[in-house]
Amino acid sequence: MKTLPLPSGKAALVPSVLAADFACLERSLAPVKKLADWVQVDVMDGHFVPNISFGPGIVSAVARAGGLPVDAHLMVENPALFIDAFAKAGAALVTVHAEARNAAACVRKIKSLGLKAGLALRPKTPLARVLPLLKQLDLILIMTVEPGFGGQAFMPEMLPKVRAARDLITVSGRKIWLQADGGINASTAVLAAGAGADSLVIGSALFSDKKPAAFLRKLRSSL
Ligand code: DX5
Repeated sequence: MKTLPLPSGKAALVPSVLAADFACLERSLAPVKKLADWVQVDVMDGHFVPNISFGPGIVSAVARAGGLPVDAHLMVENPALFIDAFAKAGAALVTVHAEARNAAACVRKIKSLGLKAGLALRPKTPLARVLPLLKQLDLILIMTVEPGFGGQAFMPEMLPKVRAARDLITVSGRKIWLQADGGINASTAVLAAGAGADSLVIGSALFSDKKPAAFLRKLRSSL
C-alpha cells in the first residue's frame, strides 16, 4: 500500500474516481497518475447519502491501476463495519464523516491499523466537530457540496469554514491536510486554495476535460 505524503505547503491534486470511466479505470487514470498526488474513491451506501457507488474492491483496483496512494472517503452511516475491509483493500487513508455513527471510535480504529485518518464535515456541520479528534487526524475534509453526487456546483459559502479550518490547523502545529471536495474546477480551486485548502478533490472538471493531464498541469501552475 502506498502511503499518503505529509502536507508540504504545496497543494495536493486528488482525482475523484467517481467521475472516471468505470468501464476502464486504468485508461481514465493513466493520463493523470504522474501529475496527481493521490486518488480518492467516494464510497456511498445509499443511507448516509441518497446514492450507491463502490466497495473495497474498487480501492484495490484503483491502487493497482493508478500506482498512487488511495484515499477512501466513506459516505456511509456505519463506517465501523467497513474499515477493516478498506484497510485490507489497500487504502492509504480512510475518511469517515463526523455525522456518521461512532466517528471518533472509527478514527481511532483507522489509526490503530496504521492508516492515516480523515474526518469529513457536511456543509451544515460546524467545524468545531473536529476539535475532539484534532490530535489524531491526518486530514480534515470540508465538503464544498452536499455529499452524494459528483458534478455539483461549488458552495462558496464554505470558504469561511475552509479558512477557519486552516487557522485551526496552523494553531495546532500539526501536519494535517485540509481537503476541499466538491465542485472544484480551475476557478474554484484557486478560491479553495486561497482559503487554505492544500488538498483539492477534482472529479467531473477533470474527467470531463478532453485533456485531463493538461488540465492538471494548468491547475497546478495556477495554485
Ligand atoms: C460528493 C463527492 C464529490 C466528488 C467530487 O459526494 O465527494 O464531491 O468527490 O466530484 P466533483 O468534482 O464532480 O464535484
